[in-house]
Formats: sequence, structure tokens, C-alpha cells
Amino acid sequence: MDNVVITGMGGSAIGGEIVKSLLLADTSIPVMVWRDYRLPPMVGRRTVLFASSYSGNTEETIAAYLSGRERGVQIFVLTSGGRLAEMAAGDGVPLIKIPSGMPPRAAIGFMSIPILVVLNKLGLCHNYEDDIMETEILLKERMNFWRRRASALGNFLFKQIPIIYSMSRVLDWVGYRWQCQLNENAKVIAHHGCLPEQSHNEVMGFGAPDFINKRIFIIGLFDKKSAHHRTLIRFQEMVKLLRGYIAGFRIYETEGKSLLARMFSLSVFGDLVSVMLAKQRGVDPLTIPRIDELKGSLSRRKM
Ligand code: F6R
Repeated sequence: MDNVVITGMGGSAIGGEIVKSLLLADTSIPVMVWRDYRLPPMVGRRTVLFASSYSGNTEETIAAYLSGRERGVQIFVLTSGGRLAEMAAGDGVPLIKIPSGMPPRAAIGFMSIPILVVLNKLGLCHNYEDDIMETEILLKERMNFWRRRASALGNFLFKQIPIIYSMSRVLDWVGYRWQCQLNENAKVIAHHGCLPEQSHNEVMGFGAPDFINKRIFIIGLFDKKSAHHRTLIRFQEMVKLLRGYIAGFRIYETEGKSLLARMFSLSVFGDLVSVMLAKQRGVDPLTIPRIDELKGSLSRRKM
């Protein structure tokens, strides 16, 4: 097989990002996460395609599935039900059934680990069983500590605009996860970027308006094992230049041995921060009324 493509939107795409980061560090097979309707031309008979939609009713993912089917691609579907489950059953496409009844963004483990298992069975990546075990143990052991730390940061972020900077490519999705969780759970605006690229453009953006800059709080995500040693120095120099413009900054470091555990250590911490901030703001972290409304109004428009 030439490549792996995982197609999905929002909370259903993040599992693909985890797989992409792991395989980026581990194998030579390219992995792409595709968040749009029509699949790109590189997807063909030598692609392994995962169509991932928690509800099974996301129109972009259904369209991507259909375009993969037309091209005779080898497809696996991850869903809890909906149209995608029906189509997979009708087409004889392998279906990975995810338990229903949770927000898609909470199903992150269900949307990532099965992909690794399938890819391992196809001989496209190694067996991640030990890393999965380590991650599970680490999350259990550290949860209370992270909860306390998240509560402090959540309180602190009240009335601030969080900007999250990842200090290695494999943590890019973790920064994005923080952003999405802050958006959806805490209902606040947030932004994420990745170093070193950020210091070649975005760093200039802290110019105006001043009243917004003064509310920006930078959160640096650092993983010693994957970051180039110059990137932390780059971050430190960058925040020095921003002193006086922004509200402040803080760096959080990964924990654990395997890349999977290290990525999850910061992503779960970000989840907790978003829930703590939601609590602080008095909003319900589970509901996403604007997304639901948008999906509803789009479903009434002709496809
Ligand atoms: C996250 C969330 C959204 C959805 C996205 C796609 O919890 O609710 O980001 O994941 O709108 O929908 P699904 O996951 O049903 O394909």
C-alpha cells in the first residue's frame, strides 16, 4: 500500500491525527488526515482509507466515503451508527462500531486505537499494545494531579484568550485539540500554532489591537524527546520579545515514555483545562448548540 488516508471532521478527525503523528515518527508510509468532501487524486487503489464519523451522518465524511467507493479504494468505517453504518453494511465494507451516547470528541480513544490495530494487521505499522497499556496506566496515575493543575489554569484563563503553541510537529494535533476543546467545551475563542514555523510569521501578529494582545495568554506544549533542542530556545526568545504585549505564558511538558503516552498526557490535560474553564464560565461543556444548528440548517439545503 502507498498511503493511509483518514477522512473525518472535528472530533472524528482527531483520531486520525494521533495515527499520523505516531506513524510520522515510526514508519515511512505517508498518512494524511482529510477534512473535506471530495478526496484528493492521490487516493486510489493503493490507499487504505478510514472514514471516521461518530454520528455516521456528517455530510463531508459521507461524500468522501462515496468518492472512495467509486474509486475502488480499500475502506474501513469507524462510526457509532447513522448513514455511514448503513452504507458500510450495504457495501460489505468493514465496520468498526464505536459505542454510542457520548460527544464525538470524547470518543478519541475509540477513534484512534482501532486504526492502529487495523494498520498493524495489514503490516503497515508496528504493534502499539505496550504503548497503549502505558498510556492507560499513566492517565490513571496522573489524573488527579492534572485535574488540580487544570483547575488552576482554568481559573487563570477566565477572561484571557488562550493561544497554544506546540513545540514539535508530533504535538501539532495536541495544540489543535486544546483549541477545539476550549472552543466546544468552554465556548471561548482560542488559537493554536506550531513552532518553529510560528516564529517566521505569526510572531509579528501581536501588534494590534492592544486591548486584545493584553488578554492573550500563551501556552507552550513541550516534548523533550521529539522537539529539536533549538525549538525551546526559540520559544523562550520569542516570549521575551512579546513581554509587555501579552498577558503572560506558561510551558507544559509531556509525561510518559512512549510517544502515544506523551501525546495523551498533554491532550488529556488540555481536555481537563477546557472543562474547568467551562465550569468557571458557567457553561455546559457537553452541548454544542451552534454546531447542531448549523448541521440542521445545512441538512435542509439541497446537497
Ligand atoms: C466534537 C463534535 C464535532 C463533530 C463533528 C463531526 O465532539 O461534536 O466536532 O465531531 O461535527 O461530526 P461526527 O463526529 O458525528 O462525524
